[in-house]
Amino acid sequence: MNISQEFAPPYKLVIPYFIVGVVFYLVSIMYTFGFDVSQLHYQDPAVLAWVHLYLLGFVMMIIFGAMAQLLPVVLEVGHFGVEFFYVIWPLLAVGTFLMMGGFVFVPALLPYGGTVVLISMLIFIFDIFMTLRNVKEFNLSVTTVLLANISLLMGIIIGIVMALAYAGQIDVNISALLVAHIYLVVGGYIIISIMGLSMILLPMFGLSHGYVNNAVKIAVSLMSISVILVLFSVILSIELIAYIGYGLSVIAIIAYLMQIQTIYQKRARKIQDIYSYSMILSYTFLLLSVLFGLVFFFMDIQKFLYLSVWLLLIGFFSFMISGHLYKIVPFLVWFEKFADLVGKEKVPMLVDMVPDRATYMQLGFVLIGIIISSLGILFSNNELFKAGVSFLFMGAVFFMYAVIYILKFESK
Ligand code: HEM
Repeated sequence: MNISQEFAPPYKLVIPYFIVGVVFYLVSIMYTFGFDVSQLHYQDPAVLAWVHLYLLGFVMMIIFGAMAQLLPVVLEVGHFGVEFFYVIWPLLAVGTFLMMGGFVFVPALLPYGGTVVLISMLIFIFDIFMTLRNVKEFNLSVTTVLLANISLLMGIIIGIVMALAYAGQIDVNISALLVAHIYLVVGGYIIISIMGLSMILLPMFGLSHGYVNNAVKIAVSLMSISVILVLFSVILSIELIAYIGYGLSVIAIIAYLMQIQTIYQKRARKIQDIYSYSMILSYTFLLLSVLFGLVFFFMDIQKFLYLSVWLLLIGFFSFMISGHLYKIVPFLVWFEKFADLVGKEKVPMLVDMVPDRATYMQLGFVLIGIIISSLGILFSNNELFKAGVSFLFMGAVFFMYAVIYILKFESK
């Protein structure tokens, strides 16, 4: 894996994505104190606001930062317009807050917030497409980036249409579009991006090599087909097609998990650290999310759907991101502050820059928090849920502390 920094964007351009993302994480965990799990409903404005706060402000913010950093390094071409990244995160942050206001307070705000988010994402997608134009070899990573961004583009256009309907400006059936929106942005963008990014990052950090990657190719293909099928089912109003899509996405995730298992077995770096523990937890929650999703599907009990989504968002995405930030942020800080000092004075190693105790506290609090809050959802018990969220909140505080510690790290 070539990790040449020659084409990497400037430090001050990428770092805000990670800082702002972590702030959004803390805010969105605090927001969940307000949930009433005895009356949870996916179209409740408070839930819709939270979903976007968490997914746009935290998950997408971090993915955009990671893409800004990794794409040029992996492709060995510079960004088409690296300066775009100075405006993408502020627009995304402002748009996300406006959208929240739109969902919770004034529906008329929603299309405005949505448009600001749309502009931010269009700039991102434009840069990605123009950057990929110069790429000669369409390998797995490039293909996933391309597929994911096409999917994002369609997903946010549907989002804007729904936002106009939500604000009462046009008349379309939101419920019909909702599944297509969710599948395009979460399945097509976030999951496919994670599949692609993880095939670069996991082998790099775990030093795995000599494995075949057929399973992930199957996973990406099936996930893409499933998104297309769900989209067609909405266009043609044939529900059966969507069910085939749901089934394929379950098989896609199982294939992906099998690939991860292979990479894990082939790793040369056998010692366990905060990164490997975070990855193990992350993938365990992905598996649990799929299992509860299946329980919902066969038993049609709504709370299993909420549990499945909660585990996907708070379990899979959050451990996936925290674990990676403990690797990526020290690397960026090291390059910025210490790379030039090599050979002149003693420079720290990457592991020295991570505050071990805080990261394990984060992991422990989040893990306990997920278990208790999930029981709260399962038993529709608000006290349990809020107790769980208290642990999640402590985990988020330790997460923020650890990231700030790494950013402020100075050689002693
Ligand atoms: C231009 C940007 C976007 C706009 C305007 C938008 C708008 C909307 C609207 C209006 C709904 C609610 C439909 C209803 O009343 O049931 C919705 C639902 C949803 N959106 Fe978005 N969206 C945008 C981007 C995104 C992105 C990027 C993601 C994921 C990363 C996302 C994830 C979701 C999810 C998961 C739901 C379902 C939430 C639930 O039912 O509880 N959206 N979106």
